[in-house]
Amino acid sequence: MELNIKGKVAVVTASSKGLGRAAAEALAAEGVNLAICSRDKDRIQETADDLQAKYNVDVLLDVCDVTDKSSIESFKNKVIDHFKTCHILFTNAGGPPPGKVEDFKGEDFKQALDLNLLSTINLVYAFLPFMKNQRWGRILASTSITVKQPIPTLALSNVSRVGVVAFIKSLALEMAPFNVTANTLAPGYIMTERVDDLLKNQAKTENISYEDALERLIQKIPVKTIGKPEDFGALAAFLASEQAAYITGETILIDGGLYNGLM
Ligand SMILES: NC(=O)c1ccc[n+]([C@@H]2O[C@H](COP(=O)([O-])OP(=O)(O)OC[C@H]3O[C@@H](n4cnc5c(N)ncnc54)[C@H](OP(=O)(O)O)[C@@H]3O)[C@@H](O)[C@H]2O)c1
Repeated sequence: MELNIKGKVAVVTASSKGLGRAAAEALAAEGVNLAICSRDKDRIQETADDLQAKYNVDVLLDVCDVTDKSSIESFKNKVIDHFKTCHILFTNAGGPPPGKVEDFKGEDFKQALDLNLLSTINLVYAFLPFMKNQRWGRILASTSITVKQPIPTLALSNVSRVGVVAFIKSLALEMAPFNVTANTLAPGYIMTERVDDLLKNQAKTENISYEDALERLIQKIPVKTIGKPEDFGALAAFLASEQAAYITGETILIDGGLYNGLM
């Protein structure tokens, strides 16, 4: 299917690896020019070089910590200096540390909110005016299955991500008349370094092997496999497309059937 987004400009944060990189790569494959960022200069440079070489699109990179508002502001200025606008915004950040409620204190929740909620809000405020002015925009906020079904060992994630859904839903209603859609992506388990680390952590805390932890997880997922980054990238590219103009304010699970609720 032709997605009709060739030549558009996408800002994809936390994109040196994992889900952010998968979204950036799927967009680049559609001919979308990219502004990508993460905190580690060498790693984001490597990703930028790789995507540029593979897809021959314009790739701007920056070192940006999305928990720092001034870092977002500086990233935005570089994007606008270079591309003049932004059509697609994919918000993403690292995941908060695993643990149960009793493992944490109030301050830990504040940090998780800065990482996952405030970063999304600040990124939207930075790039939304350009989308609204040009009457075309796609905002994709990446969160987690935890917004529908909390995971007991991910208390910080359970709490810090639901506000993103409320923010994106509120935004979608306000932006609908301007041809700017806003949706939330909610991945279950997609194989990235983060999931690998969570499995290692689980193996350690439960005193089982990594292979056993992996097998246990696979058995919980109805399709009996962990998702691939490309699966996630394909969803992001579709939601960013011209064809997805009638989808807004939604939270879209990509979880191999793991969420066990009706809606
Ligand atoms: N993979 C899954 O199945 C899954 C499922 C549900 C939710 N999630 C969530 O989705 C997000 C991405 O997960 P992932 O699996 O792709 O993780 P990952 O493989 O560890 O990649 C994380 C990416 O985020 C960047 N990053 C981390 N903190 C950042 C910050 N403060 N500012 C800018 N960039 C930052 C990292 O680069 P630098 O280190 O260079 O900054 C890296 O590029 C996380 O919040 C995770 O909890 C993932």
